[in-house]
Amino acid sequence: MRIVLLGPPGAGKGTQAKRLAERYGLAIIGSGDIFREHVAQATELGLAAKEYMDRGEYVPDQITVKMVLERLGRPDARDGFILDGFPRTVPQAQALERSLASSGRPLSAVLNFKIGDEVAVKRLTGRLVCPNCKAVYNLNFKPPRVEGICNVCGSKLSLRTDDDEETVRRRLDVYRTQTQPLVLYFWERGLLIDIDADAPEEVVFDRTVQAISDLEDIEP
Ligand code: AP5
Repeated sequence: MRIVLLGPPGAGKGTQAKRLAERYGLAIIGSGDIFREHVAQATELGLAAKEYMDRGEYVPDQITVKMVLERLGRPDARDGFILDGFPRTVPQAQALERSLASSGRPLSAVLNFKIGDEVAVKRLTGRLVCPNCKAVYNLNFKPPRVEGICNVCGSKLSLRTDDDEETVRRRLDVYRTQTQPLVLYFWERGLLIDIDADAPEEVVFDRTVQAISDLEDIEP
């Protein structure tokens, strides 16, 4: 199974990617996560990406495509993957399509998680992340057992630098102008499946699993 998760910031792509990867035994390739790892390690790529990320803008296609296609070529992605947050522009989608066609493994589906702007703002301004084990919490919907402390590893939780309200609204604008065109792009290719993601995490997961089980002709 080779799946793309599409949807605005805060739609729950990262949350559902983890659950789906566990359920179906797939590799997760999250472009935002890879960028954040580079930023944490202060690599050249990380330094270049950080200025775009902090402004809520997209990292240039040339940098992003090279990084994700390289990751897709690693052995753990051979038996199936979930792309979380890539592609986000038409040139990225075209580059992905060419690369997958050349290795004879086309996409199975594109799951389009749909939520409204105010839900996205509420979710993202309440998000807490663990810098150590990467667990994700939410002040409004999924608080940690002890305030400010990770349930899993006990580290101090932090906010993402791009989750303040002004940057979130900028990210939503960027999504509308640069990523929304992909909805039509993938619909024209018969790959798009809309998921109403404005519901509790478990409900969205059940809807997603149902949508996947309804898929026909998934290649082994
Ligand atoms: P990235 O990290 O991918 O950010 P994003 O797409 O804006 O998505 P988010 O991670 O903010 O949201 P999500 O949908 O994953 O939601 P989550 O599950 O975490 O990218 C960051 C930046 O990197 C970009 O802005 C850009 O600069 C750069 N970048 C990345 N990819 C790029 C690309 N392809 N091209 C160019 N640049 C790129 O959930 C959010 C919160 O809500 C959590 O607290 C969670 O607990 C909660 N939550 C989740 N689901 C629910 C639910 N159903 N109900 C209630 N709460 C929920």
